[in-house]
Amino acid sequence: MGIEYIAGRPSSHLLKWVDLIASSAPGPILDAPCGKGRNSVPCAEPMITGSLRPLEVDLLRPNLPFVPNSFGAVLNVHLVVPSLARRLASLVRPGGFLYVESFENRGGNYLQLPKSGELRGQFPDFEFLAHVEKKAGPRSADAVTFYCLARKR
Ligand SMILES: C[S@@+](CC[C@H](N)C(=O)[O-])C[C@H]1O[C@@H](n2cnc3c(N)ncnc32)[C@H](O)[C@@H]1O
Repeated sequence: MGIEYIAGRPSSHLLKWVDLIASSAPGPILDAPCGKGRNSVPCAEPMITGSLRPLEVDLLRPNLPFVPNSFGAVLNVHLVVPSLARRLASLVRPGGFLYVESFENRGGNYLQLPKSGELRGQFPDFEFLAHVEKKAGPRSADAVTFYCLARKR
């Protein structure tokens, strides 16, 4: 059984950007939360010095145990908390990447999803290379699922 099998199938949206992220990230890549590492594995593989180091951290505590501007890329997949995305963004070095992806729209979970454009407006110090939104929930909700890749200026 290979590590890929244990980790699960990576995000198909993220896979489009993995080569760019792994080859150009100016430092280590943080996958927060990583779950079983389904997205960490493809990011580590293309890197010559790629290795995986699991950490146990409560991501919702006010202060993350990481130094600002210390990561070449940060992934935040399927744990949608705007304040977390902002804190993770502060960890990215200039020239580094922030990839954020929401969960799929199912049942009433649109209530936890942002409004259209809401996330993008929170990262003025990033240039967006991709930002795809899809309407979620009833029209009145103005909620969207999304994925985005942005590079810190
Ligand atoms: C839906 S999974 C996504 C994991 C991974 N990003 C992926 O795409 O496979 C959400 C993860 O968030 C983790 N999680 C939830 N609350 C957390 C917290 N306060 N601190 C750290 N991790 C948390 C859960 O343990 C779970 O692994």
